[in-house]
Amino acid sequence: MSVITRDLFLYLSNNKTLNRAAQNWGATIASGKIVGGMDFPSSIKFIKELNNEGLSVTVDHLGEFVRSETVAKERTEECIQTIETIVAQQLDSHVSLKLTSLGLDISKDLVYENMMKIMESAEKNKVMVTIDMEDEQRCQDTLSIFKDLKKDYHYISTVLQAYLYRTEKDLDELNSYQPFLRLVKGAYKESPKVAFPEKEDVDNNYKKIIKKHLLNGNYAGIATHDDAIIEYTKRLVAEYNIPKHSFEFQMLYGMRSTTQRELVKEGYNMRVYVPYGRDWYGYFMRRLAERPANIAFALKGMTKK
Ligand code: FDA
Repeated sequence: MSVITRDLFLYLSNNKTLNRAAQNWGATIASGKIVGGMDFPSSIKFIKELNNEGLSVTVDHLGEFVRSETVAKERTEECIQTIETIVAQQLDSHVSLKLTSLGLDISKDLVYENMMKIMESAEKNKVMVTIDMEDEQRCQDTLSIFKDLKKDYHYISTVLQAYLYRTEKDLDELNSYQPFLRLVKGAYKESPKVAFPEKEDVDNNYKKIIKKHLLNGNYAGIATHDDAIIEYTKRLVAEYNIPKHSFEFQMLYGMRSTTQRELVKEGYNMRVYVPYGRDWYGYFMRRLAERPANIAFALKGMTKK
């Protein structure tokens, strides 16, 4: 894809007017295709379908860059309710969240307070909470908060992005926490000052961190739709006798559904990231920036399987 197209979609992902418009007409276009639904209860039937086919899930209430303390607190309560519903409905599901939805851009005290409430519930209910990684500006804060919480809570994980130069060092520093990490390529528009601009370098760094994390004996969520990376991982674990229960593949809801099921048949753990909520527009634009063919899928149900 051209850099211009990618930049355009990433630019559009921040457009507030379009975001507001999408909140109104989104339900029909997005539900059951790229998001579970406009709220968690309406996503449950899709999650159960996935679980019945042997796919685990992580659910994410869409919405980021929250600027109001009241909204950040509402988001916290919703997360807790989601954790309780996962247990009540016996869903095989983790929870993913973004710290900017819990007040990271408002104050550190607020985000800690909110995260601690969520983690008390997660720990009691044994539901894993993954802190998604946002843009590079927020990476240091996200990792510091993760490390602090990891000292007190077991059911917490986070994400590292292969496109950042800093990531290998972050991985080394996190090793002593024996963390469950989701490893991804990275989805935001970053400057070449902080991130590899070339896809080949991102892919090479991705392979490097997957290998390091798995050989360190830590649990990995390898979150990619890229066959080359999936094949690399399969070869790596075979070569080093790494058991299938020490890692999982992860993909986004609606992307490569056939491949997801094939991986389950081959005996791999597979987790599907199911976003829900009215704020689906920014998420969708980032997916288009990654691969414009996704629009054909979203609009017509067409994509490479
Ligand atoms: P990439 O986009 O590099 O594509 C490589 C190749 O894979 C393509 O050329 C094509 O052949 C194939 N392919 C890709 N998408 C396909 C599709 N839909 N259908 C068919 N073929 C396809 N990012 C972030 O910054 N922070 C985060 O917290 C997360 N969290 C997260 C969770 C999960 C579960 C996933 C899957 C991804 C994320 N990401 C993320 C997004 C991630 O960083 C990355 O932007 C996307 O996954 C796109 O990169 P890929 O590795 O999938 O392949």
